[in-house]
Amino acid sequence: MKKTSEQKLKVLVTGGAGYIGSHTVVALQQHGFRVIVIDNLFNSHAGVIDRIGEITGVKPEFHEFDLVDTDKTDSFFASNADLAGIIHFAAYKAVGESMENPLMYYRNNLVSLMNILEGMRNYKVANLVFSSSCTVYGQPDELPVKETSPVKEALSVYGNTKQMSEEILRFSVGAYGIKTIALRYFNPVGAHESALIGELPRGVPNNLAPFITQTAIGRRDRLSVFGSDYNTPDGTPIRDYIHVVDLAEAHVVAVNRMIGNKTKSDYEIFNLGTGKGYSVLEAIRSFEKVSGQKLPYKFVGRRSGDIEQVWADTSYANRELGWKAEKDLDDMMRSAWKWEQALAKGNK
Ligand code: UFG
Repeated sequence: MKKTSEQKLKVLVTGGAGYIGSHTVVALQQHGFRVIVIDNLFNSHAGVIDRIGEITGVKPEFHEFDLVDTDKTDSFFASNADLAGIIHFAAYKAVGESMENPLMYYRNNLVSLMNILEGMRNYKVANLVFSSSCTVYGQPDELPVKETSPVKEALSVYGNTKQMSEEILRFSVGAYGIKTIALRYFNPVGAHESALIGELPRGVPNNLAPFITQTAIGRRDRLSVFGSDYNTPDGTPIRDYIHVVDLAEAHVVAVNRMIGNKTKSDYEIFNLGTGKGYSVLEAIRSFEKVSGQKLPYKFVGRRSGDIEQVWADTSYANRELGWKAEKDLDDMMRSAWKWEQALAKGNK
């Protein structure tokens, strides 16, 4: 097993200054890993690296560059061939933007992945955890959705990059002796309990939770609820919201599974959700309960590309990984609200 001079296993986190990445860096450090972050800061802030240091007492080693740059990626690997594993978060993730500029998304999300795989092949780095998404399932025919459920035709370029990335990985691992675990996230919400790191959406948020908290703090007039005529109990769409801290823990488990040679094949896939679905109105109620505030909202038409309902069958991940999401929707909303309030005080 590869160890550094301090006998700590070294893990690279790409996109480690981002939302899920930063929480995962914290979790890895708290579990005794030495973490190196690569981030181009296109959609994140260098201050996040300092905040991670405040939380854990250790500021991770940070390299600011774009993984689409083949030469820079190669020189990074040349001096870090002793990596025990890589968690690859770095990617563009805005659905609407991906439809306006598909090539920007294909180039960024796919070329960076291929550069990383090339580095792993050339410098014999064995273990990769890949950030995938429940978006690959589209609207599943059966709920809850299992890892074996079919991948449906993508509804967005962003979703397509996740599907294509999974395919690239599936065919590459065997050829190059690389082990991969693809984690299909459901809907990540919430922030670290310290309120030192959390989600920092660029511009007007697309996602529900940051839109709710920004409305409550007064940055937005009101939340638009996209559609009230879905075939669900209250007419609004259902998602499996998962606390970002639970999600971060699952990455540590995945890394340990590969390092400990516990994987069942070269390419494994796990759903990361809670297994419970909540509607948009239930999410609003939860926020109102934990914040003690009424949230102004209005119903508007459906958002194009939205699916009606999806939640995870988590039994395979729970059994195989020995991991289970611990936090509930109220915990997610409470921490998201605490983070928004900290942001309003200028804590970024
Ligand atoms: N919603 C609103 N108003 C808003 C924002 C969202 O009503 O202002 C609703 C959506 O219609 C949806 C639910 O809240 O029913 C959740 O929406 P999000 O945008 O938070 O999450 P999505 O499930 O749409 O998005 C997720 C991931 C994306 C992924 C997408 C694919 O966050 O990365 O699934 O469908 F691409």
